[in-house]
Amino acid sequence: MQQSGLQRTLSIVKPDGVRKGVIGEVVRRFEAAGIRIAAMKMIRLTKREAEGFYAVHRERPFFGSLTDFMSSGPIVVMVLEGENVIARNRELMGATDPKKAAPGTIRASMADGVEQNIVHGSDAPETAAMEIRYFFGELEIVN
Ligand code: RTP
Ligand code: MG
Repeated sequence: MQQSGLQRTLSIVKPDGVRKGVIGEVVRRFEAAGIRIAAMKMIRLTKREAEGFYAVHRERPFFGSLTDFMSSGPIVVMVLEGENVIARNRELMGATDPKKAAPGTIRASMADGVEQNIVHGSDAPETAAMEIRYFFGELEIVN
């Protein structure tokens, strides 16, 4: 890690993605883009754990609904690794609102709305490090 733009980011297939049966399609897109999966597991967040993960959004009007949604069923959390992977993952995801997401992106092709939008991806190196630590111990991440 840490030479020439090699990064890690946290990706989540949210409960709507698991319910729709698109875990495989999301992973396929990452692999097709040459992104390496360095860790992966399925878990179910409690409401409290979802609130901890989305603590930066605590003051937002959608916080209650978002954390209800994120604790509504299993999710798949992954550590992605690659060159510039934070931005590349967000490009593959598309804009938060699927109606505004570029055609062909994960959210444009699969999401129903701005909240239930299939995937999460870290937005910067600092948040990526924090979010990876929230879900994974160092021994769970494969080099
Ligand atoms: P994420 O963090 O999940 O990767 O998504 P993002 O950066 O594109 O969006 P962000 O602004 O960080 O918002 C986090 C998640 O909150 C839900 N949301 N709902 N009702 C709304 O207007 C609204 N806005 C955001 C979405 O699930 C979004 O991904
Ligand atoms: Mg975000």
